[in-house]
Amino acid sequence: MADKKIIAVVGSTGSQGGGLVHAILNDPQGGFAARAITRDPNKEKAKALTASGAEVVKANLDDVESLKKAFAGAYAVYGVTNFWEHFSAEKEKAQAKNIADAAKAAGVKHVIWSTLEDTRKLMQPDDKRMPMLQEKYRVPHFDAKAEANVFFAGLPVTYLVTSFYWDNLYMFGMAPKKDADGVYSWSFPMGNAKLAGIAADDIGNAAYGIFKAGERYLGKTVGIVSQTLTIDEMGHELTKGLGIGPVKYHAVDANVYRGFGFPGADEMGNMFQVYRDFEKEVLSARSAETTRSLNPQLQSFDQWLAKNKSRVPV
Ligand SMILES: NC(=O)c1ccc[n+]([C@@H]2O[C@H](COP(=O)([O-])OP(=O)(O)OC[C@H]3O[C@@H](n4cnc5c(N)ncnc54)[C@H](OP(=O)(O)O)[C@@H]3O)[C@@H](O)[C@H]2O)c1
Repeated sequence: MADKKIIAVVGSTGSQGGGLVHAILNDPQGGFAARAITRDPNKEKAKALTASGAEVVKANLDDVESLKKAFAGAYAVYGVTNFWEHFSAEKEKAQAKNIADAAKAAGVKHVIWSTLEDTRKLMQPDDKRMPMLQEKYRVPHFDAKAEANVFFAGLPVTYLVTSFYWDNLYMFGMAPKKDADGVYSWSFPMGNAKLAGIAADDIGNAAYGIFKAGERYLGKTVGIVSQTLTIDEMGHELTKGLGIGPVKYHAVDANVYRGFGFPGADEMGNMFQVYRDFEKEVLSARSAETTRSLNPQLQSFDQWLAKNKSRVPV
């Protein structure tokens, strides 16, 4: 342990950070040790990380001093913020700034910032196709992460542009629903556009590949994806993989989707509309080839489904 380079992982009890911690622990000869950051070292997921061999350290993204302590002595930091805990772009930016400031104070040699694109750059400010949210954002959880990129300037940073997790099917209730007649259906404002998708744990696996590559990705933006599939193609895979009837896709209007009323429906409606209206730009910002070179075990949608089918609530 003493001679290993420590990677301090924010979000270690979650999808992205959890994937990275496991990637580090699964490669004992890799030369890296995992420092798993959580607000609560006593929660079950944190205790499981300790039992698996990670060093679990307490810190809070709202408290920069706690992050400075948690990053001290580390070689690298993986930084991710969780918009969905508070739904605030301003808070997400403040937390990202705390990660960057603490990484600077600790003098780490590599930071990966888990970011997304600024969707405002895809449209004129007076474009009326979708509403502005939180006053000045199109897709707040994308735009805030992109705005936060600037905090990492001057650090040895890699900007990691992630993709839609297929795990949203069970984590965000996005699986097709069965009606009283036994017919499965789902609704997205995606038309026939392809959705850039990835298994959530493969984000951590790709991040580990970036750290292992040393200086190669310093100062670079790396967009990761596994497969790009239309909603109909995903439905066909679900029919095959879960052994359910055909999944009917309602390609609803984005305004209809924004009006669905669940928390964040307006934000998700804008996000899917960006995927649909700017399919070329979104897909070209991500490379499956690069992602596979970082993680040769990259799961396809059907492989992910075979592993996770008991979790998908259909
Ligand atoms: N779902 C998708 O398809 C998708 C795609 C691309 C990007 N994203 C982005 O991914 C981000 C969420 O990452 P995730 O899915 O890995 O999260 P997650 O699985 O929901 O877990 C959240 C993690 O963040 C940590 N955390 C949250 N607030 C914290 C705080 N104040 N201080 C310290 N740690 C804190 C939690 O740690 P403790 O609770 O243990 O403290 C936990 O480990 C979101 O911002 C989202 O926009 C999601």
